[in-house]
Amino acid sequence: MSDFNICIAGLGTVGSSLINIIEKNKNKIENRLNKKIKIVGITAKNKRKKRSFLTDNYNWYDDPLKMIKDCKPNLFIELMGYEKEISYNSIKFAIKNKVNIITANKALIAHNGNELISLAEKNQVSFLFEASVAAAIPIINTLKSMIISNKIIKILGILNGTTNYILSNMTNNNISFSEALKDAKKKGYVESNPDLDLEGIDSAHKLSILTSLAFGLNLINFNEIYREGIANIELQDIEFSKKLGLVIKLVSIVEQINNKIRLYVKPMMLNKNSRLGKVDGVLNGIQIQSKDIEDIFLEGQGAGGYATASSIISDIYDICINGYSPAFGIKFNKLKKIDKLSVNKDFNSFYLRLNVLDKKGVLAKITKLFNENNISIETMIQNPKNMKIKNNSIPLIIITHKTYLQDINNLIKKISNLLEVKDKPFFMQIYKV
Ligand code: HSE
Repeated sequence: MSDFNICIAGLGTVGSSLINIIEKNKNKIENRLNKKIKIVGITAKNKRKKRSFLTDNYNWYDDPLKMIKDCKPNLFIELMGYEKEISYNSIKFAIKNKVNIITANKALIAHNGNELISLAEKNQVSFLFEASVAAAIPIINTLKSMIISNKIIKILGILNGTTNYILSNMTNNNISFSEALKDAKKKGYVESNPDLDLEGIDSAHKLSILTSLAFGLNLINFNEIYREGIANIELQDIEFSKKLGLVIKLVSIVEQINNKIRLYVKPMMLNKNSRLGKVDGVLNGIQIQSKDIEDIFLEGQGAGGYATASSIISDIYDICINGYSPAFGIKFNKLKKIDKLSVNKDFNSFYLRLNVLDKKGVLAKITKLFNENNISIETMIQNPKNMKIKNNSIPLIIITHKTYLQDINNLIKKISNLLEVKDKPFFMQIYKV
């Protein structure tokens, strides 16, 4: 058996779990890979931090670049998680030194993937990232092999476990957003910058990667992904969604329409019995629609040390057994660019919550604005007896017939100007799959 030398940068939950798995299953893994696995160097921000393995058993480096230079490994595993900085610098340095790369760093790929992946191809080293999206769900390899014989037309996903945990907790236990956030923080689910989860940034990073794989595209400009977060969702929205037989989820969608794509991340009300609607707690779920076969639906653990590390092990297997393969399954210069459709032309039903004064003539003023903006009302709920009164106002819930997002935005601007409407109106797309 020849040696396969690995350097690991980043020893948080995932890095430590990876070392635990390798230590516990060394013989089994080596027999499958037909290689002697040697972790020849490790590095992280803080050497003294308590970890689930003995750091003293390994060669410690303070500087990832020096580690790569001294160890000359076959594989560099980057788990530091920075969008640029040392994650980017060390990966670039490793590629230039003909070292294979595995990373779980979705932010780095979404922002710098085109450059790093084309550089890896020039140097004929693998750049694999199964662990970057939906941890234990093998979505990257599924898409790479699916596109060979299937034309994918749409992907819908719950790609962030933290926000799904928060929304599920609000739904199942009738607690407010802030209580559910506190609980998620206590359980260690929330990223150190909570906006990454709550504002849909983490989901958008993952959606950008899935989009490239599914449609054979260069990574798109990250700033072009439309995003809405979950921080404005109130318990009363959850309660109303239940009354309507719906459930609120943070959904990431990409779809091809003619020769363009539309992609976005936003909270939506889904049918509670739909496959995505039933994805509960910290789980992730991904539905792939293709022209040629029935939908594929994958559900599983989207975060966590073991779940993520097990996907890294599958990438190590790929490099050892199959050798070099292009990061997106096809050569970098064969990846295409594509125009994006504006979300403003998205045609859907919407849920609106307006906090209005409970007095004569208010409803008439509001429905007049709906009429002027060509938006038809499907359902209206005004039930002050059961609702908490806030700033002397009561919630008025309106479900629209299908309409364009841009018309809803115009309507909301006008409704906000009415003196009888308190607080900022809240709205959400309804997606009945
Ligand atoms: N913050 C991410 C999530 C971690 O909640 O899904 C895994 O990428």
